[in-house]
Parts: sequence; structure tokens; C-alpha cells
Amino acid sequence: MSYILEMRGIYKHFGEVLANDHVDLKVEAGTVHSIVGENGAGKTTLMCILYGLYKADSGQIFIDGKEVDINSPSDAIANGIGMIHQHFKLIPAMTVAENVMLGLEPRKGKIFLDLKQINQQTKELSDRYGLAVDPKALVGNISVGIKQRVEILKVLYHKANIMILDEPTALLTPQESEDLFRVINHLREDGKTILFISHKLKEIMQISDRITVMRDGKIVDTVEKRDTNEVKLARMMVGRDVFLKPAPAPKKVDGAVLKVEDVSAVNEFHRPVLTDVSFDVRSGEILGIAGIDGNGQTELVRALIGLQPITKGKITLKGKQMDHKPVKLIRDEGIGVVPEDRLMEGLVVDFNVQENLFLGLQRNKPFSDGKLISWKAVRKNADDLVKFFDIRTPNNEQKVNLLSGGNQQKIIVARELSHNPEMIIAAQPTRGLDIAATDFVHEQLIKQRDEGKAILLLSLSLDEILLLSTRIAVIYKGSIVAIVNKDETTAEDLGLMMLGGTYEHIPA
Ligand SMILES: Nc1ncnc2c1ncn2[C@@H]1O[C@H](COP(=O)(O)OP(=O)(O)O)[C@@H](O)[C@H]1O
Ligand SMILES: [Mg+2]
Repeated sequence: MSYILEMRGIYKHFGEVLANDHVDLKVEAGTVHSIVGENGAGKTTLMCILYGLYKADSGQIFIDGKEVDINSPSDAIANGIGMIHQHFKLIPAMTVAENVMLGLEPRKGKIFLDLKQINQQTKELSDRYGLAVDPKALVGNISVGIKQRVEILKVLYHKANIMILDEPTALLTPQESEDLFRVINHLREDGKTILFISHKLKEIMQISDRITVMRDGKIVDTVEKRDTNEVKLARMMVGRDVFLKPAPAPKKVDGAVLKVEDVSAVNEFHRPVLTDVSFDVRSGEILGIAGIDGNGQTELVRALIGLQPITKGKITLKGKQMDHKPVKLIRDEGIGVVPEDRLMEGLVVDFNVQENLFLGLQRNKPFSDGKLISWKAVRKNADDLVKFFDIRTPNNEQKVNLLSGGNQQKIIVARELSHNPEMIIAAQPTRGLDIAATDFVHEQLIKQRDEGKAILLLSLSLDEILLLSTRIAVIYKGSIVAIVNKDETTAEDLGLMMLGGTYEHIPA
């Protein structure tokens, strides 16, 4: 068997961290070869070595069986390797075609770019790979999904045969991801070799021919897609069985803790964002809100915690009126919130770990006697929570913007659960987290549920809604179009309702 790419014995240290520990990778031409692993497994390091961004301490790289020396991206490009960057390096004030050609413009005379020619060439490449990109569009005006395709065009223009995509779907919507997969299939059919990096097992199973699993800087195994499945891959990635099973049935579901009755709201342009929304969340259950992004989920959460004014209706917590009350009072009544935007609303990123772990509670006992903050209590609280929630931080005075997304989310979850609220609102609680951290957050929510808390879960992942929810409410254009028991529905039915399709038995 001959390989278009072989990496042999790749070894790379960063200080104390062994990022790549004798990594061997063999890649066949014309395949989609995926590399999966948890955050920190060493995937990006390996790809940066291949692309000449990092220098390995030792190891060899072979292209078509010949050893090559790659010391810079231009060496990589000369060897037919291209990398699609995660953070786009495009210039917004230039057109698509100008960006694609940047650095390699065909010139007519000496000074002027031949715009007609570069537009033409960009269009040809775009058509050939089904990228559907307009060469004349300004990059500043195009969506994230299209920007990524411009990066792909750039790499194609450099005549790459091996294309590296490192977490390419991280910033994409589900629809944009589907489009990307179509493009990847096109590229493969044309003989390109794709290195696809991700920690999302579902998409790995969808797009790959062969899969290499990394853990702690080492290769665990390389397997054929047809010989594996999500559960097996997860086990290899994490090194133990992981909780990918649905939550067990709730222990005991009791009366309503939160009641939302006929709530409506409008946005700043007086357009309705919520219309006659009614539901309740009962003690001991997880009510999942399923819906496509932008159908009122954000406004709903904001209305519940007093940040979005409502024009009509009633919100009560344990029988007490909560609408038209200040945020602080609502939270003190016993609502914990894991917000959708963890960096903007969940954390103060310039504050350290222990400060973030009591944020919003600074006027409450035991952190304050009404006048002064007890730093002793703050430190003790942080020590306890860091230990209990296994928050990985060098120390409790570390600024949170230096921690990984998973650890940031653990800080929010730890803080919000620490004051023992009876109602928990979890909005996109695992977005961007790897399996181990997702598993952890899920376990905490189920544990809280079984302690009798009422939990409202908002997630754009239908899989997550189905895994955790006791009942599921579907939100569409600001209205709840159905509330169903988890056991009496399917992903297909929910998907249809999320798109505005009708359903026979919409409960009263
Ligand atoms: N430039 C760097 N400096 C120091 N440590 C790094 C650097 N890049 C990566 N690491 C460390 O190397 C390990 C592997 O990281 P990375 O290759 O980014 O993993 P992955 O892409 O699988 O999430 C991690 O522990 C990470 O913190
Ligand atoms: Mg990475």
C-alpha cells in the first residue's frame, strides 16, 4: 500500500506538556481521513507540524513515499499541503477573488491586477468544486460559511492535494455544515486528500473514510469508518465508557415550580419575539425547549430572568410573581442560570477563578456581612467548588480567559448550582465542550433533576434535547407549537415541528 502522506515518530514538547508522543499517521490518497480526540489531545499540534507552523522535536514526514523537510507554510504549500484556517485570515475590504489571489496575483503589465482574469479563475474553481461563491462579493459582507469556502478556494488555488481542515464546523450552523460536507465529498471525488479534525463524533461518522483517534498526545488507533461507531470512538477518545445513553426516567415529578402563562414580548423594533407562550416546569423534570436558532429561545430566557420586558402574561416561581421584577430579586428567589453566551453573560473574563465562582452572590451570605466581603469565605468556596467540579486551573487566582471553554463552563455550572436554586435554566449548556465536559454537565443536570429541582433546558442540539428531557416543548417563531413527552416523540417529528410543520395532536 502506498500513502500520499506518512508522518513517522512525531514528537513535540511544549515545556512540560508532551503534545505529540511518537505519533505515526498514514494517509491514503483520495480519502477523508479524520483525526478525533478530546481538547488537548494533540491534533492541532500535529497538523501545525505538517503545515510547517511548528517544528517537531523529532520525527519524519513523507509525501508520496519521499521524505520531505517542512520548515514553513511555504514548504508545506510547495509539497501540496494546504490548511484551511479556523480563524479566517481574509481581508474584509477586498472581494472574494482578490482574497483568493492574494500573494499570487496574475499580472498584466506590471502594476495592475487583471481583475477580469482573477474573477474568471475564481469562478472556475468555485464551479468545479460546487462552492457557489461569488468572486465579486466583498468578504466583509459574506457569512462565516462562505468565508470558509473562500479559504478552501485559496488552498485550491495554491494547488494543494492534501487539505487540512481543523475543527471546520466549530463556527458553522447545521445547514452550513451540511454544505461543507457536500464540498468535501466533491473534493474527494476529484482526488483530493482531506485531513478532517473534529471532536464531534456524529460528523466524523458522516464524512470519514478512515479515523485516527488521539488521546494525551498519542495515537490510540486508526480504524475504518465501517468498523466503528460513535460509542466505540467515544470510548477510545476518553479512555472509559461515556454517558451517551439517554437520561434515566426521572425519580419523582411533582408540582410546577415555574409557570409561564400567555407571555408575549416584542423587540426594540416592536416586532413580536414571543407570542402567548405558556408552559410550566415541574419539580424533578427536565423540560427541553427544541427549536432552530433564532426562534425566540434567547428572548425567552431573558424574559424569565427579567432582562426582556414582557408586554403580556404572567411568570410565577413557586406561586410568587416574577414578571416585572428586578433580575437580582429573581435570582435570589432561587433561579440558577447557565447563560447561552458564557463569555458575555456568564463570566467576567478579566476576573480570576475565585471571583467568578461567587459572582452575583457578593452581597449574599457567607460572602458578605452586608458591608464587607469575606475573602476567607470566597477562597473556601473556590477551593470546594474547584475540587468538587474538577475545574482544571493552575490556581484559583488564574484569570478565567486563560482556561479552556470546558473549564469556563464548569465554573458557571458550579457557581449556579452552589446556591442550591430550585429552578435551573440551562441555555446551550454544552456548546463547544468536548465529550468529557459535556458528559459532566449532563450528569450534573440529571443529578439536580433527581434532587427535585425543576430544569429548563434550551439546546440547539436535538440530540441533547432527546438525551436529557422528560418533556419537550417546540418553539417556532416565538410560539410554543407543541409540548410532548420525550417517550412519545421522535427526532423526525420534532424536526418537522421545528420547521413549522403541523402535528396532529398539539396538546392544549
Ligand atoms: N503553542 C503552545 N504552547 C504551549 N502549549 C501548547 C501549545 N500548543 C498546544 N499546547 C498544548 O499541547 C497540548 C495539545 O494541544 P493541541 O494540539 O492544541 O490539542 P487539540 O488540537 O487536540 O485540542 C495541550 O496540552 C496544549 O495545551
Ligand atoms: Mg485543536
